[in-house]
Amino acid sequence: MPTIQWTQAMSVQHDELDRQHQHLLELYNKFDDAAQRGRGWRELHTMLGELEDYTREHFGFEEGVLAAARYEDLEHHCNLHRQLERKLAAFREEVAADRRVTVEFRAFLGYWWQSHILEHDQDYAKSLFSADDGDHET
Ligand SMILES: [Fe+2]
Ligand SMILES: [Fe+2]
Repeated sequence: MPTIQWTQAMSVQHDELDRQHQHLLELYNKFDDAAQRGRGWRELHTMLGELEDYTREHFGFEEGVLAAARYEDLEHHCNLHRQLERKLAAFREEVAADRRVTVEFRAFLGYWWQSHILEHDQDYAKSLFSADDGDHET
C-alpha cells in the first residue's frame, strides 16, 4: 500500500481526535513500510501489537466523546470498531502462526482506516462538530 497521508478532508473538527487519527495513520504507515521492506515477522508482529493497542485506546476515547455528545448512531459506530478489533486480534495470531504478513491484510487494514476516517468518522463530525451548524465549540 502507498503511504496514507492525513489530509484536511479527514478532519473531524475535533483537535484531539484529529491528532489521534494522524498517529494511527503514522503507526499504520510504519507497519506497512516495514512489511514492504521485508522486515522479519517478529518485528511486524510487535508493530501490529502497538497498532492494536493504540486502536483500542483511540476507539475508547472516540466512543467517550460521541457518548457525551449523545451521537444518535453511536451503537452502529461502536459495532464497526468492535469488528476491526476482532479482526486485528485474529490477524495477530495468524501472523505468529504463519510467520508472515500477507499483502491482502495490509491492503485491508489501510483501506479500512482510510474509509473509516473519511466516511464513518465524517458522519459524526458532520452531525456533531460541523462549523456551519451554529455557534457551539468543540
Ligand atoms: Fe470511528
Ligand atoms: Fe476514529
